[in-house]
Amino acid sequence: MKRGMLLTDNRPVTSGGTSPAVPDQPSPQTSGRGTLMVRELSTTFRSSGREIRAVRSVSFEVHPGRTLVLLGESGSGKSVTARALMRLHGPRAVIQGDVTLGEVDLLGVDDATMRGIRGARVALVPQDPSAALDPLRRVGGQITEVLRLHDVVPDKAAARTRAIELLGQVGIPDPERAFRSYPHELSGGMRQRVVIAMGISCDPEVIIADEPTTALDVTVQAQILDLFAELQRRLDTALLMVTHDVGVAADIADEVAVMYAGSIVETGPAREVLERPRHPYTQALLAAIPTPDVARGELVAIAGSPPMAGEDFPGCAFAGRCPFVQDSCRTSPPPLVVVESGHLAACPVINPVTATTPVVGPSTESTR
Ligand SMILES: Nc1ncnc2c1ncn2[C@@H]1O[C@H](COP(=O)(O)OP(=O)(O)OP(=O)(O)O)[C@@H](O)[C@H]1O
Ligand code: SF4
Ligand SMILES: [Mg+2]
Repeated sequence: MKRGMLLTDNRPVTSGGTSPAVPDQPSPQTSGRGTLMVRELSTTFRSSGREIRAVRSVSFEVHPGRTLVLLGESGSGKSVTARALMRLHGPRAVIQGDVTLGEVDLLGVDDATMRGIRGARVALVPQDPSAALDPLRRVGGQITEVLRLHDVVPDKAAARTRAIELLGQVGIPDPERAFRSYPHELSGGMRQRVVIAMGISCDPEVIIADEPTTALDVTVQAQILDLFAELQRRLDTALLMVTHDVGVAADIADEVAVMYAGSIVETGPAREVLERPRHPYTQALLAAIPTPDVARGELVAIAGSPPMAGEDFPGCAFAGRCPFVQDSCRTSPPPLVVVESGHLAACPVINPVTATTPVVGPSTESTR
């Protein structure tokens, strides 16, 4: 599963030209399946005359067979990013940037085309399984509907067989019974597995999994992560995993992108970022983990609070909590600096910018 992947913030990082090269970059197309490319994606909500800039110009790529983990505290913009990729926000959201899967412009195609892509080529396993399931319909019917809609199976009987097989694959002990159940007859963990079964039902090229294992105990969590890994081995699925759990990131990520206040503040190969973090926020996140009182991998609070939703800030969003803050941090957004091959961090205080330091771009869109 863990084969290298290009991941950048804000602008494509390419070999040659004015952008820094990123060695160890795999071929973007390894299997004929598409790469999910996200460039300067922003999402702003308009609500009661206010603008809430929830996601600020994030960029990344997820290649076939690879796993990118979006990691960050609650409210950092992980779910808004995941839903924006699928165009699932309502009319109050303004989504900007470029999102492509292979040759397909996911933000540009018409609604009907997007409906055909959702589930079939890109599937979202949402954070709240209850919201994803119709409470008035049996679980089995909801899975077979997805299979029939995307012509994955030839007939109703095959859809039933496949749905039960999927329910078994996600670790549901009595899949036939679950098939006949209404969502409220299942536990939260079982509903979560049903939603995962729906997500993988059409063997999508990309799975966007938003905290898919948070409600599950550690054993089942490991089973689900193994299931994703098996899918990747078998089908070269690209996985974008959203989590606040550093343990999950350490277990499965090829690359990590750390989000803070709507921006990616650090990104790079998982081992590099998790073992040698170069942004004070990532350092604080990782330093906060290993205490005996804290469940495995759970983030504990870092002193202070992130900016409020809707609050604008001219400089670094972490300035109010950062032990290294300087006056200059509060005046302009910190640029992303390449600190190692493929490893970028948006903190020029810890990673000084010299005449020869590759600077990839601003870390928020407010300088554009
Ligand atoms: N529909 C909306 N309208 C206005 N603001 C929103 C909307 N959805 C999300 N937000 C705001 O966007 C910010 C990012 O939310 P998001 O749900 O992406 O956080 P998250 O990183 O997924 O957090 P968690 O770990 O708690 O799931 C939050 O400040 C949230 O209040
Ligand atoms: S730019 Fe300044 S405030 Fe932001 S993380 Fe770096 S040192 Fe801290
Ligand atoms: Mg979320």
